[in-house]
Amino acid sequence: MIDKATVERIIDAADIVDVVSDFVSLKKRGQNYLGLCPFHNDRNPSFNVSRAKGIYKCFACGAGGGAVNFVMQHEQMTYVEALRYLAKKYHIEIEERELTDEERMAQNERESMLMVNEFAMQFFEEQLHNTTDGQEIGMAYFKERGFTLESIKKFHLGYSPDNRSALYDAAIKKGYNRQILIDVGLCIDDGHGGGYDRFRGRVMFPVFNIAGKVVAFGGRTLRNDKAKYVNSPESVVYSKSNEIYGLFQAKRAITKTDKCYIVEGYADVISMHQSGFENVIASSGTALTEGHVHKIHRFTQNVTELFDGDEAGVHAALRGVDLLLKDDINTKILLLPEGEDPDSFARSHSAIEVKQYIEEKETDFITFKSDVLLKDSQNDPIKRSGAIRDIVQSIALIPDQIKRLEFAKMCSKRFEIDERVIMAEIGKQIDKNREKSRKGESPKSNHDPVTEPDVSVDIQAGKPLRPGRKTDTTVQIEPFERDLMKYVVKYGMCYFCDTEDVDGSSHPTALVEFVRNELASDGLMFSNPVYKRIFDESVSLIDPFYEALTEKTIQLQRQMDDEIKAGIVEIQRKGVEDIGDAEKQEEQLKASAACKYQMDLAEFRLQYLQKRLSSEIDDSVRDTVLDFVIDKHQLSRIHSQFGAVIATEADRLMTLVPKAINAWKNALLNQHRHELNRLLEHASPEKEREILIELQKLDLLRGKLAQVTGEQVINSL
Ligand code: CTP
Ligand code: MN
Repeated sequence: MIDKATVERIIDAADIVDVVSDFVSLKKRGQNYLGLCPFHNDRNPSFNVSRAKGIYKCFACGAGGGAVNFVMQHEQMTYVEALRYLAKKYHIEIEERELTDEERMAQNERESMLMVNEFAMQFFEEQLHNTTDGQEIGMAYFKERGFTLESIKKFHLGYSPDNRSALYDAAIKKGYNRQILIDVGLCIDDGHGGGYDRFRGRVMFPVFNIAGKVVAFGGRTLRNDKAKYVNSPESVVYSKSNEIYGLFQAKRAITKTDKCYIVEGYADVISMHQSGFENVIASSGTALTEGHVHKIHRFTQNVTELFDGDEAGVHAALRGVDLLLKDDINTKILLLPEGEDPDSFARSHSAIEVKQYIEEKETDFITFKSDVLLKDSQNDPIKRSGAIRDIVQSIALIPDQIKRLEFAKMCSKRFEIDERVIMAEIGKQIDKNREKSRKGESPKSNHDPVTEPDVSVDIQAGKPLRPGRKTDTTVQIEPFERDLMKYVVKYGMCYFCDTEDVDGSSHPTALVEFVRNELASDGLMFSNPVYKRIFDESVSLIDPFYEALTEKTIQLQRQMDDEIKAGIVEIQRKGVEDIGDAEKQEEQLKASAACKYQMDLAEFRLQYLQKRLSSEIDDSVRDTVLDFVIDKHQLSRIHSQFGAVIATEADRLMTLVPKAINAWKNALLNQHRHELNRLLEHASPEKEREILIELQKLDLLRGKLAQVTGEQVINSL
């Protein structure tokens, strides 16, 4: 685990422009940088990067965050992986935090499994490349299949010798844990405290997760075994319904071409790569699941199913279509001539022929479905109505209304049926689906697998939690909380006022400290959970901030002194007529250095909290923070033009913040008043008196509050 101080250092060191520039070409626009967004198909540059704020934001698709988030999103890394990546880039040594026992156990199991898989992969590769059997059996097979050495290396293919326990013995000798070998599925418990290999005499296809770690293997037999492929079982590191073969190798090409081809098998992926299609992945044997689809959707919205033309291929394609449509993916289908799979097709045709075939034969799902469902019976009315119903059900799964309309039109043309009839049918189906999902069932697809696969929750794909809005109160509190939250996020560490201590001395207080004290004195806290989290995080950053401020102050002072010294030398070197002139110039020099010092310090205060909060791992926190920190004008226009406006807000904080706090309190009082009034309606005479007294007290408080607020407004004018 990386300790907090190191995380801070990494976030500080990471220059957002520098980090993004490794992947996106940026052009300077005023204070900011602009480029094409790498997270959606961007035609006009809408991707903004602010170096000063340390954040990026796409105004078209909404992606945004700090440097860490960018790396996470772009490279599909976890938070910790992204931190390590940045640490490496900026040569920051990582100090590991001691793990708790629980963390260590969980991490140990996972990491040990990944480690032993990595070892096994190397072992299989070693066997393939450097042993006689490997060469004569494994390599000979790959060569015969037409795999190049380059692909063999790229996909880390290997050979598992035809031997009871070659891997088991080698791993145990290297000190790997027996139980881990068994749990990850590489070996099987022999019941006598030993083990033997799951994969024997097979060529090996390692399965990588998005981060490039080996999570499983597929082993293909070289004989006429019943099981052509044997795969790793599910384990802590491998969930079949979530892993996609080849995604790690394909993700760049998918993003670049904004398109992904789904094929069925390992060999299909590899042969397609060899034909120049690198945006190809496989669901490998299992039916496509929602988990697979979500994962693909992170990289592109355009997917083509590329399957064999046989019955199994058609069936798999049909089922895939509905899953893809449901996720709002633009879905195309491409069936190969019967008896061919992408692997055999790619090998028996030149790269150009493959490309041509794909471009010509790709069809939309309506054409595909009607072709399949009406095969050999174009005019059979029963088949026709069945096909229409089936297609309507697919269209009804598409979340986007405009797309649904487009497909309804297509369907109406295809079957020569009035568009309105189709639309009405779609509407009915949508209602039915809604009803079902209300009952907790999934929407109807004609091609659902018999049992729904168990899709474990994917944290990275998880949708951000939207700040909840209360609907049960007549007085909305959230907008008031939001208003105050905005000042905290934007100016939290800025100097706010001097606070008197008990001993009569006073000390400078940052805005977030002031707010914390104010809220504490009234026992107030943000009710919106996201705001509360942001606030707690901000408060916990106060101490680290002051430490950093001390350091920064020393550094800036030194810088100022050096500047002054160098300036004086320069003045003396140039030589001035009289002493008075030299003194005047020195005065000016000192004044401007001091001014720069003050500005740098203020800038440091301003950025400290923004930078950290917008690098938060939590999507909902980050989204909220970015909403406050970024506004379109500031980022897309020249900053200085709006400098005056921004300065005004910052200058008026002394007024704005107490006002926001009071407005919030006032809203809470109003809410309370509302509740009391409601109680009054059904209260007994005795209760009524109590409530009336309470209401009087409330009004008194409100009066006082109004007075304070008014005074503050007047004071500030
Ligand atoms: N598969 C599997 N277990 C099996 C059969 C198939 O896991 N017993 C998976 C493999 O990932 C395989 C994919 O399903 O790549 C497609 O199966 P199939 O078309 O039968 O195999 P091919 O990929 O054509 O295999 P090969 O070309 O090596 O014969
Ligand atoms: Mn094949």
